[in-house]
Amino acid sequence: MAPTGSSVPGGDHPSPGTHRTHLPSVRPSLGAGQVEAADLGELSLEAGGRRLSVTLAYRHDGPGPDAPQVLVVHALTGSADAAGDWWEPLIGPGRALDTTKVGVLCANLLGGRYGSTGPTSISPVTGRPFGVSFPQPSARDEARALWALADRLGIERFVLATGGSLGGMIAQEVALERPASVDHLLPMAAPAATGPMAIAWNHIQLELIDALGDRGLELARQLAMTTYRSEADFDERFARGREADGRFSIASYLDHQGRKLLDRFDPDTYAVLVRVMDGHDVGRDRGGVIEAFRALARARVAVTGIGIPGDILYGPDQIRALVRAATAAGADARYREIHSTKGHDAFLVEWDQLTSIIADALADGIALGVGKGVLPLEAVAGAA
Ligand code: COA
Repeated sequence: MAPTGSSVPGGDHPSPGTHRTHLPSVRPSLGAGQVEAADLGELSLEAGGRRLSVTLAYRHDGPGPDAPQVLVVHALTGSADAAGDWWEPLIGPGRALDTTKVGVLCANLLGGRYGSTGPTSISPVTGRPFGVSFPQPSARDEARALWALADRLGIERFVLATGGSLGGMIAQEVALERPASVDHLLPMAAPAATGPMAIAWNHIQLELIDALGDRGLELARQLAMTTYRSEADFDERFARGREADGRFSIASYLDHQGRKLLDRFDPDTYAVLVRVMDGHDVGRDRGGVIEAFRALARARVAVTGIGIPGDILYGPDQIRALVRAATAAGADARYREIHSTKGHDAFLVEWDQLTSIIADALADGIALGVGKGVLPLEAVAGAA
């Protein structure tokens, strides 16, 4: 684990709700290329209640803040290890996020399962894991925690903030939390507000977990997997095939995926992060989505919304609506697609298309940062 630090670098505009106390005296490290932990002190959550002492697990690859920085946010059950695991083909020397030229930060979300403070952490009140008593963060709390981490690391701006699904939702809140500190926002398969169909699927998953605990988590994952893929994908891979034991192959596949999640996750964490997703609505208390996005327009944050035809969870119509709202707000916004038979999960598998999309958005973010006069030309030489 990395040492953690006491001063609050880059903290001239700390996020509301963030109170950093008792921070150790050494700044957490940058560019280590492995998952580390940073103590962020106490954060207050939108829901109120006791302030929460927060540690976030993070991974930073590449150069520090003298070079452009990129924020990558993970999806529902992801980890800080984008560069070594779930987005590995996109991050590293010579890749879309070329870590010889740009710094890349990814953190395990507050409430997550991979090293950040969450339901499996020990409650200072009871001395036992929080479990269901873990305070519920909102997507905005998640964004504030990420900014608190950036402050702690001395990162003042991101030329690009991106992520898929829940990660794309939180990336939006990251940009809205400090619009003047983000240049390009790239949400993938993530709407401006979670719609009723997704909430419906999430509701059934939460009910399963509530009723059945671990078994409920397995079944929740099975249900979720049917929303992450597509009819074409299942037809192509499983058709009406059967396993040796007589089960349909698709049933066997879902059983496997459910068990696999249970091996690496827990029901309380899953429920917390599903509720973050349910509550996502950039327009809440901001006069609606268009009004919210006006802050991006004012700060000249460009937006590229990525839709995936065949995504039944957060499909193209929802992403086009996000882009329309951003455009109506006056932002420079565009819509692009990933073509795939995979459905929602395309943002985790279609590497060639992702490479092109991310490279374009990064180049645009860097050009914007230079144009705004906030990125010195020497810092970005060759970075795009
Ligand atoms: N019966 C049992 N298991 C089967 C099977 C069958 N008929 N067919 C395939 N499998 C197993 C494989 O053996 C393999 O097991 P392993 O992962 O333990 O090695 C697994 O299923 C492969 O899964 P698959 O979905 O085919 O992988 P992929 O390469 O197409 O996709 C990921 C990779 C990372 C996208 C995918 O595995 C995943 O995790 N998807 C969910 C991600 C997610 O959470 N998305 C939503 C974010 S909100």
